[in-house]
Amino acid sequence: MIDPRIFKIELREGRERTIKSYVLRSNVLDDKGEKVLEEAGKYVVYYEDGTLLNSRTLFGNDKPLIIEIGFGMGTATLEIARNRDAYNYLGLEVYLDGVIKLLKRLNDASLSNLKVMRFNAVDVLEHMISDGSIAGFHIFFPDPWMKKKHHKRRLMNPDFINLLIDKLDRGGYIYFVTDWVEYADEVLSLFNGNERIENPHKGFAPHIQWRPNTKFEKKGLEKNHEVREIWVEKK
Ligand SMILES: C[S@@+](CC[C@H](N)C(=O)[O-])C[C@H]1O[C@@H](n2cnc3c(N)ncnc32)[C@H](O)[C@@H]1O
Repeated sequence: MIDPRIFKIELREGRERTIKSYVLRSNVLDDKGEKVLEEAGKYVVYYEDGTLLNSRTLFGNDKPLIIEIGFGMGTATLEIARNRDAYNYLGLEVYLDGVIKLLKRLNDASLSNLKVMRFNAVDVLEHMISDGSIAGFHIFFPDPWMKKKHHKRRLMNPDFINLLIDKLDRGGYIYFVTDWVEYADEVLSLFNGNERIENPHKGFAPHIQWRPNTKFEKKGLEKNHEVREIWVEKK
C-alpha cells in the first residue's frame, strides 16, 4: 500500500502557497515508482504536524544534521552523504521523479545517514525544525526565475534567508551555488546586509572540493554559464 502522504507536498495550496519557487509537475506514480517507494520506505520522511525532525528522531544518533533544499535528481546528494559521512542529511524536494530516483539509488547504496522528504521546504523548516538545530544548508542551483516579473518566485529572498538563519546552530553554514550571475550577486548582497551571519570568504567562495557537479550545473556549463558559490556562517 502506497502512503498517500507522498502526494501532498505543501500545507497551503494554489494561490495560498507560502512560496512559489517551484512549479508543480507530475503527481502520479507508475508501477516502478510504487515499487521503489515500497522498497525504500525506511528512507522516506513524511510531513507531520507536531513532529520535530533532528538527528535523534531521524537517525537515532547525534551527528550534525545538514538539510539540502531542492536536490533535483539527487546525484550530488547521495555522493556527498557517502563521502562526507560525519554528518546526517535530510534532502527536501517536491519533484516526484527526482525523489523516486534518489530513493532508488539510496536503497541500492543502503546509506545510513541520508533521508528524503517530498515537501515544500518552507513548511518543513517552519513547522518541523527547531531553531538553532541545523549544522548546514545546501542549496544548489535553485531555479533562477530569470524574468524580472518572476524574481519574486526566487527561493532566496530576505524572509527565507532569515528562516534559514533561525534554524542554523551557531557556526552553522549556508552553502549556495548558482550559474545565474545576477541571482548570485543578489544573494551575496542579501547575505552582506544580514548582521546575523558572516562570510569567511568576504565575496564569493572558491569551489568546495567535496561538492560534485549536479545535473543542472552540467546543463549550465554546457551553455558556458559561470558558476558562483557562496558560503556563509551563522555568528
Ligand atoms: C533547478 S532545480 C536544481 C536541482 C539540483 N539541485 C541540481 O542542481 O541539479 C531546483 C529544484 O528545487 C526544487 N524546489 C524549488 N522550491 C522548492 C521548495 N520550496 N521546496 C522543495 N524543493 C523546491 C524544484 O522542485 C527543483 O527540482
